[in-house]
Amino acid sequence: MRILSGITSSGETHIGNYFGAMRQHVALQAQGQAIYFIADYHSMTVVRDAAERRRLVREVALDYLALGLDPARAILYRQSDVPEVCELTWILSSVTPMGLLERSHAYKDKISQGLPLDHGLFAYPVLMAADILIYRSDLVPVGQDQKQHLEMARDIAQRFHHLYGAEVFTLPEPRILEEVAVVPGTDGRKMSKSYANTIRMFWPEKEVKRAVMGIVTDSTPVEAPKDVKAPLFQLWSLFASAADREALFARAAAGGLGYGEVKKDLLARLLEYFGPARARRDELAKRPGEVEDVLADGARRARELATPVLDAARAAAGLGRAPA
Ligand code: TRP
Repeated sequence: MRILSGITSSGETHIGNYFGAMRQHVALQAQGQAIYFIADYHSMTVVRDAAERRRLVREVALDYLALGLDPARAILYRQSDVPEVCELTWILSSVTPMGLLERSHAYKDKISQGLPLDHGLFAYPVLMAADILIYRSDLVPVGQDQKQHLEMARDIAQRFHHLYGAEVFTLPEPRILEEVAVVPGTDGRKMSKSYANTIRMFWPEKEVKRAVMGIVTDSTPVEAPKDVKAPLFQLWSLFASAADREALFARAAAGGLGYGEVKKDLLARLLEYFGPARARRDELAKRPGEVEDVLADGARRARELATPVLDAARAAAGLGRAPA
């Protein structure tokens, strides 16, 4: 089974990325040939600085390795090291109806925010379809927000098959990571770099502390019962066993539990949870050549898988010299 997923390197990763995707990516590497990439082509619609783009790829690679991704098992590569994906993007573009892309939630969101749009943003789902289809991926673990993009990838593959009469691609199964839902940010909205409400697991401890202490709470007095749907409790729950959760939620319902106490406990749990990964990351960061080697080896293995599929798509579409 081929398992594929990517993460856009448009910012430093945070616990929303971890619980929403990275944790499952690491867990799934034992279940088949996992292929994970750092989507720097996708980052181009957001990051406009070359040095920053390179830096972010390195940071995300370090994060994955520190969090337990095993490069002997899983393939980890930088998307732009497999330029075949761009050629497939063009091939798929030409069978993708405009109407399909116009229905994209992500695109409609950007329009409604009145942001200036470029073609890359509009075509983003086609690039994503190429990422997936070029490996004949069976399983694509993504968060709920990427579900529509996955359906588009399936639609685009089917249109190609229909138009060229050849079953070149595998239709990927989405694995929507339900249990993770949405991780709230420190302001209560979805945790997202664009809201500046993130908590990064690998910040210096002082900064993690500042972010945790800054989680929004209301002015309910200590004695009064607390609403456990508040972002503070939801974040705390990420680091708690079912039994711990039941105990704390009972105290919240009874009253007498202060937000400050919950924040302190959350901070302690968070630092402990990511402690071993932080230590590994600090060690790895001292050997940047090793990270580059992992990415280079990943790209080599990824291209080996991608090339035959791209060749099949070219042949089906009548591109290039006819096979002898
Ligand atoms: N769009 C995804 C995100 O922002 C990242 C991504 C790019 C991806 N290509 C992909 C995810 C292919 C899964 C499969 O999170």
